[in-house]
Amino acid sequence: MAAEVTVINHPLIQHKLTLMRRVETSTAKFRALLKEISMLLAYEVTRDLPLKTERIQTPMSLMDAPILAPEKKMVLVSIMRAGQGILDGMLELMPSARVGHIGLYRDPRTLVVIEYYFKVPQDIEERDILVVDPMLATGNSAVAAVHRLKETNPNSIKFVCLLAAPEGIRHFHSQHPDVPIYTAAIDNKLDEHGYILPGLGDAGDRLFGTK
Ligand code: URA
Repeated sequence: MAAEVTVINHPLIQHKLTLMRRVETSTAKFRALLKEISMLLAYEVTRDLPLKTERIQTPMSLMDAPILAPEKKMVLVSIMRAGQGILDGMLELMPSARVGHIGLYRDPRTLVVIEYYFKVPQDIEERDILVVDPMLATGNSAVAAVHRLKETNPNSIKFVCLLAAPEGIRHFHSQHPDVPIYTAAIDNKLDEHGYILPGLGDAGDRLFGTK
């Protein structure tokens, strides 16, 4: 399967992303903007959800009305901790989605990605998964998270981020060419510390006000 990258360049998303990037944007504003953008991303990413019809009674008449077809609810998996920002927005739009969390860190000595937390719905098998993390930088965490999720035998996986670096996209798709990436923008490159340029800084710190 061809590796797909979709840049969701809706004007509202692009405008809000610029506000997020600004260094002077406050934590509260950053969080609110990420939530708003995440709702817009969710709208686009779920565009291909199948529908079925169900007979309903309106106040006027009976009708065969469209309704989401999947029997099993979608699972949103947040890569901790910045993934929480996207998760909050998406849950607003899909309140009955199931939720999973994956915690990963890179051992500074060996640079190997270590999993410290993994909690997903027990019946994740055969569900559709959206993995969310605002920044696809080196791609190491995203690659490890998707490897781990594939072990659970889901129906499908999509990866959703806010910003992606070309290096991260290449690395991710070298490991998971079958998993499409959705992003609001592809920036220029990574700096020597693995931060995205021009980027928006550390998404977790900006989201939670930890720096
Ligand atoms: N993680 C971030 O929060 N920011 C970057 O630029 C790269 C990774």
